[in-house]
Amino acid sequence: MRPVYVFNGPNLSRLGTREPDVYGAETFDDLAALCRDTGRELGLSVDVRQTDDEAELVAWLHEAADRAIPVVLNPAAFTHYSYALRDAIAQRTAPLIEVHISNPAAREEFRHTSVVAAVASGTIAGFGLRSYELALRAIAGTP
Ligand code: DQA
Repeated sequence: MRPVYVFNGPNLSRLGTREPDVYGAETFDDLAALCRDTGRELGLSVDVRQTDDEAELVAWLHEAADRAIPVVLNPAAFTHYSYALRDAIAQRTAPLIEVHISNPAAREEFRHTSVVAAVASGTIAGFGLRSYELALRAIAGTP
């Protein structure tokens, strides 16, 4: 099975309890199960990770680049200001899809800027946990 990483940034471990009106009632474990199940259907071996640590996320992106493994990335708040993340993504050697559970464009002004979008293959936002499923389907359709 083709390997794919699903990386999640800060506060996403708290899905289910965190602002459920914005992010829904499903937990991070539900998200991980959805990604693995979708992957199995598509012939992808999905490794789901979450960190609150920018340095750890940068290291994981280096690992993905070195191994040419596609990535589904929810950078969470790092989306809006982390040039370190942007520079790590710019080194990618396989498709990388930026995902968001909510639609940042419809929220506070500071969320309207993504400093990583320009170096991603594409962005999927606003479909709840289905954003991840759609991203995995997009990756399954790429060479
Ligand atoms: C988010 C949107 C970001 O603005 C926010 O900081 C998050 C989650 C989303 O998935 O909707 O933590 O990336």
